[in-house]
Amino acid sequence: MLAIAILAAGKGTRMRSSLPKVLQPLAGKTLLERVLSSCDQLEPQKCLIIIGHEANKIKQKLSYKDKIDFVLQEPQNGTGHAIQQLLKVLKDFDGELIVLNGDVPLLQPETIKRLLEAHRSSNADATLLTARFSDPSGYGRVFIDKQGQISKIIEECDCDAKQRKNNLTNSGVYCFNWNKLNKVLPELESDNAQGELYLTDTIRLLDKAIHIEIENQEEVKGINNRIQMAECEALIQQKLQNYWLQEGVTFIDPRSCTLSEDCSFGKDVIIEPQTHFKGSCKIGDRCHLGPGSLLEDVEIGNDVQVIYSVINSTKIANRVSVGPFANLRPESKVSNDCKIGNFVELKKSTIGEGSKVNHLSYIGDSELGQRVNIGAGTITANFDGFEKHKTVIGDYSKTGANCVLVAPINLGKEVTVGAGSTLTKDVPSGSLAIGRAKQLTKQGWSIKKPG
Ligand code: UD1
Ligand code: CA
Repeated sequence: MLAIAILAAGKGTRMRSSLPKVLQPLAGKTLLERVLSSCDQLEPQKCLIIIGHEANKIKQKLSYKDKIDFVLQEPQNGTGHAIQQLLKVLKDFDGELIVLNGDVPLLQPETIKRLLEAHRSSNADATLLTARFSDPSGYGRVFIDKQGQISKIIEECDCDAKQRKNNLTNSGVYCFNWNKLNKVLPELESDNAQGELYLTDTIRLLDKAIHIEIENQEEVKGINNRIQMAECEALIQQKLQNYWLQEGVTFIDPRSCTLSEDCSFGKDVIIEPQTHFKGSCKIGDRCHLGPGSLLEDVEIGNDVQVIYSVINSTKIANRVSVGPFANLRPESKVSNDCKIGNFVELKKSTIGEGSKVNHLSYIGDSELGQRVNIGAGTITANFDGFEKHKTVIGDYSKTGANCVLVAPINLGKEVTVGAGSTLTKDVPSGSLAIGRAKQLTKQGWSIKKPG
């Protein structure tokens, strides 16, 4: 039997944030979600998350996950105290308990699997992952006896100058024999610099604790402050970029771009500097994206160009050009061969094949047919102060410059709207609509010059 416990009750004081540490985002996913996904290859009977500080926020954030039980630690009196909370919950449990710190986000599933296998093939009471850091500051130091077993772990703040020089560190990733651990948990004492109950003190109380030293220390990097957070973000970004560079994506300046794990790119894609991808982004072949663009939850076909634009929750088909300086807001859909030009905002709108919205427009809650041409400065007035209304424009219709279409409104097919019109009524197919004051010209009229 296998149980997993993730320690997530601490405040994360060193982050200096109102958000609990385990909810801080790293490349779009919270630390806690990352720790959970590092358990992906295990099939535990129980997955327990120990929460305390901002417990409800954490519960809420993970409410979409099933097979998780939350255990409350109140107050938060150290990592040993956190695991003591399991004495009741795992009263009848018999098996291994894997304990993970909620602030170690880069751990690979294979590594935890390896830890579990090493533990199972030894008869140790505890097996833990250790790493040697050239700068071990902040980590507990691990001391090995002559038999190669762990004799004790001393937290940095409890180390003397000589002990501090030991660079073998505790990664905060453990596998315990639960029946051995639960005997020593009640014996923990808080006679240390922080006055807390340390989980690491169980090691000297157990008969046999062994370790496996991890070669790639980056995997066990813990996050206590924003410097470590930025370092981990950079590691994730570098890994993602290197992967896509190898897959054939061109990044002109990779380090100025950011990706998420849910991105995918087709062949011969070029990404210009300062272009960012968040959430799930699916990009087709031969797209040229950026510079200076932000794409979030998008699906983009082939041969699409985007320059200095923001695109959010939008689907774009093939051979579309966007920007410079366009803002495509959620629930929009742009069909093949469209052009969305400079200073154009789309919101919850569908743009039919070959249509153009080239300059200075707001198109909201609208449905445009095929080959519609929207004149510069055309605005759909979709909000009456209370509700949003729809604008429908049929195939081959055109609006002149500076038109306002007051929704709800329906323009048929092949409609032409004169420049400067404000339309409040539907226009049937094949009509010209003009809604503006007639021009008045007074010949021979001029302002008298002074003097
Ligand atoms: C801990 C280890 C240290 C190790 C390091 C690895 C202890 C005593 N020390 O130190 O040996 O090198 O991790 O990253 O375990 N938490 C609770 N309840 C509490 C206190 C903490 O759930 O009462 C949680 C925190 O939310 C966090 C995790 O435990 O996710 C680790 O706590 P933290 O204070 O960051 O421990 P470190 O000082 O980093
Ligand atoms: Ca930590």
